[in-house]
Amino acid sequence: MIIPIRLESSTVRGYNVTIDRLPKLSFDTKVVIVTNPTVAGFHLDNLLSKIDAKDLDVVTVKDGEEYKNLDTIVDILDELFTKQLDRKSLLIAFGGGVIGDMTGFTASIYQRGIDFIQIPTTLLAQVDASVGGKTGVNNRFGKNLIGAFYQPKAVYIDIDFLKTLPKREFSAGMAELIKMSVMFDREFFEFLEKDDLSSRDSLNRAIARSVELKAWVVNQDEKEAGIRAVLNYGHTFAHVIENETNYREYLHGEAVAIGMVMANLLSYELALISLDEVDRVKNLLIKHNLPITYEIRDIEIFYNKFFLDKKSSNSKIKFILPKSIGDFEVRDNISKETILKVLAKFKRVDR
Ligand SMILES: NC(=O)c1ccc[n+]([C@@H]2O[C@H](COP(=O)([O-])OP(=O)(O)OC[C@H]3O[C@@H](n4cnc5c(N)ncnc54)[C@H](O)[C@@H]3O)[C@@H](O)[C@H]2O)c1
Ligand SMILES: [Zn+2]
Repeated sequence: MIIPIRLESSTVRGYNVTIDRLPKLSFDTKVVIVTNPTVAGFHLDNLLSKIDAKDLDVVTVKDGEEYKNLDTIVDILDELFTKQLDRKSLLIAFGGGVIGDMTGFTASIYQRGIDFIQIPTTLLAQVDASVGGKTGVNNRFGKNLIGAFYQPKAVYIDIDFLKTLPKREFSAGMAELIKMSVMFDREFFEFLEKDDLSSRDSLNRAIARSVELKAWVVNQDEKEAGIRAVLNYGHTFAHVIENETNYREYLHGEAVAIGMVMANLLSYELALISLDEVDRVKNLLIKHNLPITYEIRDIEIFYNKFFLDKKSSNSKIKFILPKSIGDFEVRDNISKETILKVLAKFKRVDR
C-alpha cells in the first residue's frame, strides 16, 4: 500500500508512505542510520541487509525521551561532520518517535538541510510521529519547543518491526489510531470495533487508514493553523494528566486514552454525543488495554493547568470534541462550570 502525501500549500514536494514489508533500498550517496541500542539490538542487522549505499554508517544515541534534547543533536551533528557527510547525503531515522523527531531535526539543520527518510518501529511513530513533518527536541521549558517543519523524502512502515515492541507501547500507539477514527471516520471506528487487528492484513489496513487520515489533515494544514488542531482530541486533558504525574505514570498514548474519555463526557454534557457512543469509545480503548480512569485530586487545580501553556488564564481553552462518532467540533466557549462538572466525575473519593 502506498499513501501519497501531497502538501498543497507548501513549496516542498510530496512524498510517499509505503506500508509493506521493507523493500531493498539503494542509494548512490552516503547514508547514515540514526537509531538507539534497543532498536538496533532487535532489528539493525535486518535493516543493514536491506540497504545498499555508496557508504553506510550508523549513529546510535541513548534510548529515552530524556535524551531528546539539543545535547544529543550536537552529538549527532558531530558524528555527521566526522563522517564527512555532504549535502547530498541521507539520514535514515530508525526507531520510535524520539529517533524520528531528532533525526528529522538534525537533517533539517545539517548544512542547511539534507534528505532523510523515516523507518518507524513503534506503532505510535508509524501512525503519528513519522507523518506530517514535525521534527524537534525538548528543553527545560517544555516538550518539542525547538524544532522545524521538515518533511522526509519517504516513509517505510513495516509491521514486522512491531513484533518486539512491548505491549504497553503498542497500546499507546493504538490510542492515537483510535483517536483518528473517532474524529474523522465512523466506518473505520466500526471496523476497529469488529476486528482485533491480530492478522497482518487488518493491522496494515488500520495503520494505512490512520496514516491516510493524518495525511489528509496535514495536506490541508501543514503548519497547524486550523484543522490540524483536531489531532489534539484528548490531548488538552492528557497534557494535564502527564504534567500532574510528572510524565512518569503514563505513556503519552495512555494519557490520551483517558483524555479522550474526559473529552467524550464533556461532549455528552454539551449534547454532541450519546452515552451509548461514549461507552463504545470506552470499550474500544479497554479492548486495547488502555486506561480509561484517572483520579483527580483537586478539580480546581486540574482546571487551572489547562492554562499552563496559555499566556493568561483569560485566554480561551480550545476543546476538540467528538460530534457523534466520526465527526468533530471545536469549542472555545465552554463555561468553567460545565468543565468542572465533567472533571468532578473523575474526582478522587477519599475512603
Ligand atoms: N513529530 C510528530 O508529529 C510527533 C507525533 C507524536 C509523537 N511525537 C514524539 O514521538 C515521541 C514518542 O514516540 P514513541 O512512542 O515511538 O516513543 P519512543 O521513540 O521513545 O519509543 C518507545 C520505546 O520503544 C522502543 N522501541 C522502538 N521500537 C521498538 C521495537 N520495534 N521493538 C522494541 N522496542 C522498540 C524505544 O527504544 C523506546 O524505548 C515523543 O517524543 C513525541 O513527542 C512526535
Ligand atoms: Zn499524541
